[in-house]
Amino acid sequence: MSGLLIIGAGGHGKVLAETAEASGRWTCIAFLDDRHAELNGTLRWPVLGAPAEASRWLGEYDAAAIAVGHSATRLRLLELMRAQGFVVPAIVHPTAWVSSSARLGEGCVVFAQAVIQADAVLGRGVIVNTSASVDHDCRIGDGVHLCPGARLAGEVVVGAASWIGIGSSVIQQISMGAHVTIGAGAAVVDNIEDGCVAVGVPARIIKKQES
Ligand SMILES: CC(C)(COP(=O)(O)OP(=O)(O)OC[C@H]1O[C@@H](n2cnc3c(N)ncnc32)[C@H](O)[C@@H]1OP(=O)(O)O)[C@@H](O)C(=O)NCCC(=O)NCCS
Repeated sequence: MSGLLIIGAGGHGKVLAETAEASGRWTCIAFLDDRHAELNGTLRWPVLGAPAEASRWLGEYDAAAIAVGHSATRLRLLELMRAQGFVVPAIVHPTAWVSSSARLGEGCVVFAQAVIQADAVLGRGVIVNTSASVDHDCRIGDGVHLCPGARLAGEVVVGAASWIGIGSSVIQQISMGAHVTIGAGAAVVDNIEDGCVAVGVPARIIKKQES
């Protein structure tokens, strides 16, 4: 048993703290957040200070988790914490199902009732939010966020830093590029290139972000 420091004390951070508590792996959980002066005392867990001061707590806390929505920032902070000597483990809620043949990268979080099936491979800093599912043989890039209730069928590929909206569905063997955004409730039935935003049933591209 050891301590877990969570970077980011917003709503996602609270869910992550409760997920870590439910996993029973940590006896001691605390936050770091730039707004620590304002936030300390408002949560069930202490907000000890700013993320830049993390190394002060190394020893008492040996693991870190990053509760930041912006994927590039999440991956940068993951690297920073690791470089300072913290372990950045995958954290899985006890009600989630993760196949023993699936692989979760460093800093992945898998929330309540989520499902990850056989031979799925998830990169670093991936968020599998409440009740999302990733079926067999999917490949999920670094920093992807699967929002609550998003469903990926088998052999789907999702490029790095993509954001798959709440309640969306993706049929089998679809390939999506990096930095793709899928709107809430969409049904993705065609491959989608890097940087595209797609919405609707079936999903249609409404814009492309320049990289
Ligand atoms: C797809 C999304 C990112 C687009 O946001 P945006 O770039 O600000 O786009 P806009 O709101 O300007 O909408 C552009 C058009 O797409 C439509 N649209 C937006 N989201 C849509 C959706 N999910 N389904 C269908 N149409 C949608 C809008 O009605 C609008 O249509 P119009 O041009 O005919 O008026 C956003 O609407 C969305 O669905 N986000 C998902 C939120 C989510 O999953 N949250 C969970 C957090 S854990």
